[in-house]
Amino acid sequence: MKYQHHIFVCTNRRPDDNPKGCCATKGSEAILSFFKEEVQKRGLKGKVRVNQAGCLDTCAMGPSVVIYPEAVWYTVRTEEDVLAVIDQHLIQNKVVEEMLMPAPWAKGQNGLPFKTPK
Ligand code: FES
Repeated sequence: MKYQHHIFVCTNRRPDDNPKGCCATKGSEAILSFFKEEVQKRGLKGKVRVNQAGCLDTCAMGPSVVIYPEAVWYTVRTEEDVLAVIDQHLIQNKVVEEMLMPAPWAKGQNGLPFKTPK
């Protein structure tokens, strides 16, 4: 894999009256932009890729973010949450436990150990 981490941020938008709701109305577009800015600012470009994603099917727990290759699923609501993911997950290689989605989305679904290639 080219990147150490590949981050997908759901920016799916549904009409306001849709009972499923969506991540866009919970601020995910700003979350995506802030992730990209911080990755750039910290010189992580080339190691970390941030991509916009469609619905990840975890709408009720959004804004939905998943990071591969670890397959760790987070609810990322604020800029502070983004900073926690960058500082702890990307830099310290530690899962941000308090932001994990509940099972079965929680960490490491693909069975990979949580370890970043050097
Ligand atoms: S709308 Fe974001 S996970 Fe479904």
